[in-house]
Amino acid sequence: MGAIERLRTTWDARVYPHLLDRVCGTAAISVERRRCIAAASGEVLEVGVGSGLNLPLFDARTVARVTGIDPSAPLLARAAARPAAVPVELRRAVAEALPFDAGRFDTVVFTYTLCSVDDPRQTLREARRVLRAGGRVLFVEHGLSPDPAIARWQRRLTSVWRTVSGNCHLDRDVPRELLAAGFCIEHMGGYQDHHRAGWLSVAYLGAATRS
Ligand SMILES: C[S@@+](CC[C@H](N)C(=O)[O-])C[C@H]1O[C@@H](n2cnc3c(N)ncnc32)[C@H](O)[C@@H]1O
Repeated sequence: MGAIERLRTTWDARVYPHLLDRVCGTAAISVERRRCIAAASGEVLEVGVGSGLNLPLFDARTVARVTGIDPSAPLLARAAARPAAVPVELRRAVAEALPFDAGRFDTVVFTYTLCSVDDPRQTLREARRVLRAGGRVLFVEHGLSPDPAIARWQRRLTSVWRTVSGNCHLDRDVPRELLAAGFCIEHMGGYQDHHRAGWLSVAYLGAATRS
């Protein structure tokens, strides 16, 4: 293993999980997480479960079980230690090829994950496949700004930013990707997310239905 690869492995295993908890675990972001997770029901799939920051938020009165997938073993280990009021199953997998039968879930949750996957379109197609008809995707994601000047900066900076931030893209077009994957957007609000990349980051919170 070369020096760069060793550094990357150490970063992924020892530094990134702490960083993720700090950056994505702020009180302000927790407010948006709660709003998103409150709508979850039935059999829930959380894509890119990460360190499990959402797991304590699922309500046992409406949620039967949460299945969380993530490609990162160190993050899954952290998630496994998180308290939860509902049964939780964690699997190592990627969003672009989900190891589940079609129509298995009632709800699929994405929080700050579409920015980091390799292929957001394929990810959402897979989410659609594993949802039952009428099932919902719940999301809080940051993405492309509607302001063309900011969008230009997001596109320019993404190539650098993603190398130090776990493949996080600043310029993912969340509504466009949802529609292209065959979802019907039920409701969606955008808000300026000052807690991640300042003025560069616009976040989208909403729900989309599998038609
Ligand atoms: C910014 S973190 C957010 C984690 C978590 N969703 C949260 O809200 O705290 C992005 C997550 O996406 C995961 N991820 C990256 N590529 C992925 C892929 N191809 N499939 C599934 N998850 C992926 C990362 O391992 C990481 O856990």
